[in-house]
Amino acid sequence: MSRLLSRVIIRPESRRCLATLTSFEKKPEEKTRELIDRIIRVDQAGELAADRIYAGQMAVLGRTDVGPTIQHMWDEEKAHLAKFNELIPKYRARPSALLPVWNIAGFALGAGTALLGKEAAMACTVAVESVIGEHYNNQLRDLMEHADQTKDKDLIETIKKFRDDENEHHDTGLANNAEQAPFYRNLTGVIKLGCRLGIYLAERI
Ligand SMILES: [Fe+2]
Ligand SMILES: [Fe+2]
Repeated sequence: MSRLLSRVIIRPESRRCLATLTSFEKKPEEKTRELIDRIIRVDQAGELAADRIYAGQMAVLGRTDVGPTIQHMWDEEKAHLAKFNELIPKYRARPSALLPVWNIAGFALGAGTALLGKEAAMACTVAVESVIGEHYNNQLRDLMEHADQTKDKDLIETIKKFRDDENEHHDTGLANNAEQAPFYRNLTGVIKLGCRLGIYLAERI
């Protein structure tokens, strides 16, 4: 139907012009540039949220026996965020316009789960870090395929190192009784869903 309409409505010269426009293909370098821009934007946003999650957890649980464990993970998140703050200007990537949202949402998630107890805070860590670990692995696959392995070595090594740190945080959460949190499955399920939505948005906005 729409094809029929376009045949009737669009004049031949307009159709030729449209064909030229739609056949426009991006160059591989341009695609890689966009990939890296997206990667750095979403990772900076994610590391900011992670920094705020652990800040929220520390505000509630800082003086309890899990305080030092959370502090250790928080310190690593601070280093992750600092690195992406450095990569944004280096690659001239556009930061997420939603940074204030990730800031508030991260703290609320960290403090909110910590208020439910230590186990819920650790369940939050398990959920977040499992999504982030998977997310970093996806990015590594894309970078292996499209990036310049020499020029972008620093970025690739950074993501590998952070992926390993996030996996360690995930295991720390499990070792600290995350699975004993009330409604563990539902809680982690909802948090994972929220993280995936956050990733989707931060890649684009
Ligand atoms: Fe991190
Ligand atoms: Fe982490």
